[in-house]
Amino acid sequence: MVENQIKTILCIGAGYVGTPTMAVIADNCPEYKIIVVDKNIDKIRAWNSDSLPIYEPGLEDIIKRRRNKNLFFSEDIATSIKEASIIFVSVNTPTKKFGLGAGMASDLQFIELVARDIIKYAQEDKLVIEKSTLPVKTAEALSRVLHSNDKGLKFEVLSNPEFLAEGTAINDLQHPDRVLIGSMKTESGIESAKILRNIYTHWVPTEKIKLTNLWSSELSKLVANAMLAQRVSSINSISALCEKTNADVEEVSHAVGMDSRIGSKFLNTSVGFGGSCFKKDILNLVYICRYYGLNEVADYWEQVVIINEYQQNRFVNKVIDKMFNTVVDKKIAVLGFAFKANTGDTRESPAITVTKMLLKERADVAIYDPKAIENAKLDLADYSQSNNLHFYNNAEDAIKDSHAILVLTAWDEFKELDFEEAYRTMKKPSFIFDGCNILQHEQLKNLGFNVNCIGKNLDRLKDDE
Ligand SMILES: NC(=O)c1ccc[n+]([C@@H]2O[C@H](COP(=O)([O-])OP(=O)(O)OC[C@H]3O[C@@H](n4cnc5c(N)ncnc54)[C@H](O)[C@@H]3O)[C@@H](O)[C@H]2O)c1
Repeated sequence: MVENQIKTILCIGAGYVGTPTMAVIADNCPEYKIIVVDKNIDKIRAWNSDSLPIYEPGLEDIIKRRRNKNLFFSEDIATSIKEASIIFVSVNTPTKKFGLGAGMASDLQFIELVARDIIKYAQEDKLVIEKSTLPVKTAEALSRVLHSNDKGLKFEVLSNPEFLAEGTAINDLQHPDRVLIGSMKTESGIESAKILRNIYTHWVPTEKIKLTNLWSSELSKLVANAMLAQRVSSINSISALCEKTNADVEEVSHAVGMDSRIGSKFLNTSVGFGGSCFKKDILNLVYICRYYGLNEVADYWEQVVIINEYQQNRFVNKVIDKMFNTVVDKKIAVLGFAFKANTGDTRESPAITVTKMLLKERADVAIYDPKAIENAKLDLADYSQSNNLHFYNNAEDAIKDSHAILVLTAWDEFKELDFEEAYRTMKKPSFIFDGCNILQHEQLKNLGFNVNCIGKNLDRLKDDE
């Protein structure tokens, strides 16, 4: 493929990764025409409307700036594939729910369907870029499907995993720690990697763009997510020990994080990690290790997920225990349903597990989230007939007449609530369970709340003083 022929870039998959990534490319590379397609027509229509389908700080501004200039959302997958010489594949790769590898392996049906669409509609050679997170060696399978075409077309497959974090996606894309481009070490593979690198050099310093072999690139993404999640599970496991020993997990994580070999980031304790990626990517890593007979390695990484589930169960058990071993018909205000602040995404959010456990205990659950209420309703659709589940448009109404407040997402607005007023409207004794450790616990205790958080035994701390 000759570089100056490249005019149109296509992204298949208009989700949390595909659209922000293409928006940032469009913003930095005005000479390229960028098209984003999706099999979900409603999503494409929403991207073309004033009401965007996802919330991501800064994204709306770029969309408004670039849409219908050099960024297009199209329902016409066939024509878009024909037109583009570079195709990013950014479809979802969830955990398989059936058959071999169910509950562990990646479900690659969407990737394969995309490959089959490409060979169906392509009329010339193309560069196909894996943006989705994929098991190591997927590029080989993708390449074989693409080359099963009977038109004599050639496809170079690159791996270019995305490291953005939801909530800070635009900043992460504008200022990435690194950009990874994996290719076959053939002449055409290396040439293709350079073509992709030249797109990124429009705004990313060259030294941050790493060219690797395909398999290193695919595996690095899984390992990066596994290591990030491992840090969360590590500190969460220690939070349980802190509660038993009267140590304070924040003091411990601060002290540990000051060691420059360890570093301070991603050492905040919480009710557990969520999001669409961590759990599925670790389980995928575990599955691959088992496939290669590396059972000890698989067990090691699986423990990260087990601790995450343990932390969520532990949190709910503490709520029940502290509230006199019963929450039947007690109104419990769940503040925050998104898996983290600054996103409306609720995929694998700990709030889902916590809410379902409370509903099983027959609590009356009152949910409020500034951006995630519609997704929360979908996640809890099985309970939509329940008289014990209610959604609110503001925190104050969710809190009124409740026995307890549970903070499950670290939204800034929860830090700024009028807790004096909240206390006045709540049943007594009034409990707060801070699952993100973001509130002012001493102040809340002084207001009269019975306060619990993670990794600190607030009552015992006071007794010891
Ligand atoms: N969300 C994140 O924070 C994040 C970060 C880094 C990497 N990733 C990875 O990126 C990939 C995409 O994640 P996401 O969060 O954007 O998913 P998403 O579910 O938000 O978006 C995927 C989109 O692909 C579309 N799609 C699926 N099959 C299709 C097909 N055959 N043709 C056209 N469209 C199709 C779906 O309709 C959906 O809109 C995943 O592999 C994920 O692991 C996600």
